[in-house]
Amino acid sequence: MHDTLVIIPTYNEVENLEPMVGRILAANDAVDVLVVDDASPDGTGDLADELALRHPEVHVLHRAVKDGLGGAYLAGFAWGLERGYEALVEMDADGSHQPEQLPLLLAQLVDHDLVLGSRWVPGGSVVNWSRRRELLSRGGNLYTRLALGIDVRDATGGYRVFSAAALRRVDLAHVASQGYCFQVDLLWRALERELRVVEVPITFVERVHGESKMSGSIVSESLALVTWWGVRRRVAAVGAVVRHGRRLPSVRALSHRVLPPVGATAER
Ligand code: GDD
Ligand code: MN
Repeated sequence: MHDTLVIIPTYNEVENLEPMVGRILAANDAVDVLVVDDASPDGTGDLADELALRHPEVHVLHRAVKDGLGGAYLAGFAWGLERGYEALVEMDADGSHQPEQLPLLLAQLVDHDLVLGSRWVPGGSVVNWSRRRELLSRGGNLYTRLALGIDVRDATGGYRVFSAAALRRVDLAHVASQGYCFQVDLLWRALERELRVVEVPITFVERVHGESKMSGSIVSESLALVTWWGVRRRVAAVGAVVRHGRRLPSVRALSHRVLPPVGATAER
């Protein structure tokens, strides 16, 4: 067993999974992989079982129904924490997250608790995304920054590394987000608990095979929850002053770094 577990949620990714697992194992010599499949009708789960037979590093968790990205990751985290992994990685199955960039992210775990692969910092980029998807991501991130009062540029991304200790601190038992909003949820929990968060520039490449599972209900869940968290934080801040005469720390001031593109100097 290795110290690092790469968790890949899958729903209908039969064309993407095998090349993805191959790239992960080729580019990272000390990682295990956990595929969390939600009974994909296209046979992704069977393919994952085959890959597990071929590669001792690969494991599979089968869930009975499609139950959202959030639920898949919660199941994957529980599996990994039970087995004592030190670093737990989130990675999409469709080739959008480059396994070759994982060492850059893992290196930051030395002095951070949560490492965010970031498309929207200098050095980060998106390849082949439609104008519509880019606007949705930029707009969603702008709204998230304003609503929560944070400075993180890519709060919605799904290429991340958590230390096991960070996952234990964020109180996973009370995470309610089902869709992609799960990503903002976990980041927000990490910031509120003053964990050390860093954004590392990544190149996000739009999938070639299969389809995105992004939907209107995923967007509305995000909008509703992000708005609610922002309001709740502000009410708590006013309450702290009125009742106890003390100020809550500004979330913006909570620890968060942006790693510069390779070759540039650091900014805090
Ligand atoms: N098990 C499981 N269950 N997996 C799922 C589910 C689900 O209900 N929904 C999606 N997935 C898997 C997909 O199979 C894929 O591996 C990964 O989650 C990402 O899904 P995509 O549908 O390809 O996401 P995207 O490309 O539209 O969205 C990307 O950007 C979002 C917004 O920035 C991802 O990076 C998301 O993580 C990110 O939140
Ligand atoms: Mn995708």
